[in-house]
Amino acid sequence: MVKVNLGGCDSFVKSAEFDSYVAKALDAFDVLASEKGAGNDFLGWKNLPSDTPESLVAACEAVRDDWKGRGVDLVVTIGIGGSYLGARCAIEALSHSFVRPEGVPQVVFAGNNLSEEYLAELSDLMALRNVACVVISKSGTTTEPAVAFRIVKQYLEERYGAAEASARIVAITDAKKGALKTLATNEGYRTFVVPDNVGGRFSVLTPVGLLPICLAGFDIRALLKGAAAEREALLERSALNPAVQYAAMRNLLYSECGKAVEIMVTYNPKFTYLAEWWKQLYGESEGKDGKGIFPASVTNTADLHSMGQFIQEGSRVMFETVVNIENANRSVVIGSDAQNLDGLNYLAGQSVNHCNSMAQLGTKIAHIDGGVPQLEVSIERINELNLGAIFYFFEYACGISAYLLGVNPFNQPGVEAYKKNMFALLRKPGYEAQTEAILKRI
Ligand code: PA5
Repeated sequence: MVKVNLGGCDSFVKSAEFDSYVAKALDAFDVLASEKGAGNDFLGWKNLPSDTPESLVAACEAVRDDWKGRGVDLVVTIGIGGSYLGARCAIEALSHSFVRPEGVPQVVFAGNNLSEEYLAELSDLMALRNVACVVISKSGTTTEPAVAFRIVKQYLEERYGAAEASARIVAITDAKKGALKTLATNEGYRTFVVPDNVGGRFSVLTPVGLLPICLAGFDIRALLKGAAAEREALLERSALNPAVQYAAMRNLLYSECGKAVEIMVTYNPKFTYLAEWWKQLYGESEGKDGKGIFPASVTNTADLHSMGQFIQEGSRVMFETVVNIENANRSVVIGSDAQNLDGLNYLAGQSVNHCNSMAQLGTKIAHIDGGVPQLEVSIERINELNLGAIFYFFEYACGISAYLLGVNPFNQPGVEAYKKNMFALLRKPGYEAQTEAILKRI
């Protein structure tokens, strides 16, 4: 279960003020629960943990087993934004930092940038390995994944032949429309559907996240179970509901205390991509109509040596949300040294995790003293159950928080602006008028 601790905000807000924001958050909770708010045709994510059928989990496992039979040791997962960040977050969090277990394919990501070097180097890797591909695009028309997929598809067809290439490609897209759907139908790819009523950044518990996470060797049943348990807890209409508390405090800090930047802080590099996933979720859901908290992130203690100075003493525009992991999964104890030339014997017998916890506590006190309020979101340890819970927690809190802010959490109209210019500059058919206009500006 996810716990929220707001003690690190005590010296910044008055309790009556917080109570009034909790009341606003409960109103927003009601809007989300009633399913009558803005964007209410995109609420399918709310019931995914309870409604996902066993047959979907089994279908993911069938792909895993089929590709294992073909000796696949590299799965290229193509997608951008909500079509890759959740899977990447879970795989980075759950994987060994250095060693891949025997018999489990490496899952790598592509289609999330337009770097030529990145794709050239992916080709170098594919040449060394036994390759399959998952291509993910809800709209089926996004340029970055489409470019990457054309390259990977051609590579697989040249290397394995058309029929075997088709068996090594799975498409995850809309049930009916989009170029990827057409391509998948024509080429006979296995497909999974992104439900109509689930937006990209809320799709980690659909096949968009489940299939790559399963292929990387992790327990997607446990992921869904953790999310289902969290869902049960968050459905309760209560001032103590952790999602209500989180939404209330972050909006209070933003609206009343001038804190326009929220930094997600982790003390475990395995959670660096949790912050990337969270930044998209909150950035795209709230950053509109001239409003919203800018989501940023640091991974400590590394970033205490890069961003720490600014957070301690720079512009006082931010608050921090620390993702606290109560227990480490592994223990490493610092040994004693007879010569003690490094002066570290005072730590002999202590675990590295104890040092990390003391760094976290020391930083909390220093940052509060420096004018940076601290919220804490805790899980017991990193595993599939708790990841499912934290995914659901941040999604649910995001819905409440955006409604409290007064924006539609489920659209992203601003994302189109760069695309129109890019298409015009690339001379995509249909953009001729925009091409003329834009060329005059450069
Ligand atoms: O949250 C969103 O809707 C977006 O970030 C999309 O996930 C992203 O733009 C990718 O879109 P698509 O899956 O249609 O390729």
